[in-house]
Amino acid sequence: MAAVRVFELVFVLLMLGGRTASVHDGPLLLLVSFDGFRYDYLDRSQDRVQLPSLEYLIQTGVRAKWVHNTFVTFTFPNHFSLVTGLHAETHGMVANHMYDPDLHQQFHMYLNNEPKWWDVGAEPIWITNQRCGGKSGVFNWPGMEARFNGTLPFRSIPEYNESIPYEHRIETMIRWFTDEENPINLGVLYFEEPDEVGHKYGPDSPELDEALEMVDRTVEYLIELLQSAGLFERMNLIITSDHGMAETSVDRVIELDRYLDPSTYLWVDKSPVTAIWPLEHGVDREYIFAALDDAHPNLQVYYKEDIPAQYHYRHNRRIMPVIAVADPGWTIVQNISTAVVEKGSHGYNNSYLPMNPIFVAHGPAFRTNLLSEPFNNVDIYPLMCHILGITPLPNNGSIDNTASIVKRQKGWWSPSPRSMSGIAGTLGLLLMLVGCIAGCGYYSQKREQTSGRHLQYSIIGYEMEDYSLGEPLVDSKREV
Ligand SMILES: *[C@@H]1O[C@H](CO)[C@@H](O)[C@H](O)[C@H]1NC(C)=O
Ligand SMILES: *[C@@H]1O[C@H](CO)[C@@H](O)[C@H](O)[C@H]1NC(C)=O
Ligand SMILES: *[C@@H]1O[C@H](CO)[C@@H](O)[C@H](O)[C@H]1NC(C)=O
Ligand SMILES: *[C@@H]1O[C@H](CO)[C@@H](O)[C@H](O)[C@H]1NC(C)=O
Ligand SMILES: *[C@@H]1O[C@H](CO)[C@@H](O)[C@H](O)[C@H]1NC(C)=O
Ligand SMILES: [Zn+2]
Repeated sequence: MAAVRVFELVFVLLMLGGRTASVHDGPLLLLVSFDGFRYDYLDRSQDRVQLPSLEYLIQTGVRAKWVHNTFVTFTFPNHFSLVTGLHAETHGMVANHMYDPDLHQQFHMYLNNEPKWWDVGAEPIWITNQRCGGKSGVFNWPGMEARFNGTLPFRSIPEYNESIPYEHRIETMIRWFTDEENPINLGVLYFEEPDEVGHKYGPDSPELDEALEMVDRTVEYLIELLQSAGLFERMNLIITSDHGMAETSVDRVIELDRYLDPSTYLWVDKSPVTAIWPLEHGVDREYIFAALDDAHPNLQVYYKEDIPAQYHYRHNRRIMPVIAVADPGWTIVQNISTAVVEKGSHGYNNSYLPMNPIFVAHGPAFRTNLLSEPFNNVDIYPLMCHILGITPLPNNGSIDNTASIVKRQKGWWSPSPRSMSGIAGTLGLLLMLVGCIAGCGYYSQKREQTSGRHLQYSIIGYEMEDYSLGEPLVDSKREV
């Protein structure tokens, strides 16, 4: 019996070894976003929601307490900040809905893919990776369809499609990583939930807990497919998000029509950050400002040049001459009789903690069982460039802010990726074979036992000992 089992396992390992050989030689990175995944959704009690796959990744990888994201705390600005390392005022995707006074045109998310909206100075990491000889695959991430200097991602789908099942997205991504001829080395993958449920039912609803469990099953499926492709141990996996979610209510509504005639302005972006373009008939920005300033105690009104410096949100022509920011939990409408007020929203002050998203990472570049201090979402771009071994473009992040979550690479031996993967593959196979003969059962113990894996990484050049500022987790218990 035992001999048969060993034989079978060796067979499986050889098959996996064969498949791994068609994977890209260099470091692999998969960036995943679950839209609207607030940082503290991970801290809900086990009675309420169980997230075993995310927990598993945290225990065998790292989690940041939260990520300080970019103002405005919306989907398009933050997804573009994640892949460029730039604040919204610099990358130009300043809101989900924008007006460009030079183009005299409006932008609405998911509908405008022309370079005139996207290719205005910033270059997403998937293009940089390709300029450096890599191949990128992008699935549904904002900006996927846009050409940058004429270039698209090496793999993508023709247009954003929210109806594609999550399983299908993962299967496609794995296929791109394991393509016989042209495997990608960078994957960028987007999922809409738990944002939509958060808006509809609110962040504290039982429906949101169910959405989190669905997200966790999605992560489980991703881990399973990475494992069966022989990629899980080689993949640097980052799971993060664009923003969090705050509870809103029909009891906390600011009605603009009480203060300002709607025919005097173009309502470019709506709630909770209203962006106003004054229309010309005798109305200027001073008129708009005077009408809204001090109109409502929960509405902060700014001239563009006075927007708080901490927001890094002034220097772009797409930032409107007057913006009005609602306090957390408040919703801006024109007239309540025609408005739909959701139960959850975001867009608020990026220092208001419920706006901040998760960060979980796992893979050979990352330390294990570590809860790190928060960092900025613009710091993730230089981190990803470091992992891929490419030079980041000028950005607003710093590699120093994430140094504590990355394993130190040994200086005394830096073999080429090709020989590294060859040696590591051979040694890995030997180690696993020894493990099988000892009866450890690689697959049955994959979730419980992880120490065998770390050996491989120290062989391929990563230092294991703790040396940094991070705060180790004690078992799975964390301070909230
Ligand atoms: C844009 O593409 C052209 C032609 O492919 C190339 O010569 C040029 O260097 C590229 N510019 C940048 C900024 O990458
Ligand atoms: C979007 O995906 C769904 C599900 O795969 C498919 O039925 C539909 O045709 C797709 N829509 C477009 C425009 O491709
Ligand atoms: C909102 O619309 C209703 C119905 O058209 C109207 O009676 C009401 O005066 C409006 N409220 C404001 C604040 O303009
Ligand atoms: C944003 O929130 C932080 C934390 O609550 C607060 O200190 C700061 O004053 C707020 N900024 C603005 C402009 O409201
Ligand atoms: C962000 O980085 C860009 C590119 O280096 C730079 O032009 C801009 O001034 C930076 N913004 C801040 C607030 O430092
Ligand atoms: Zn949303």
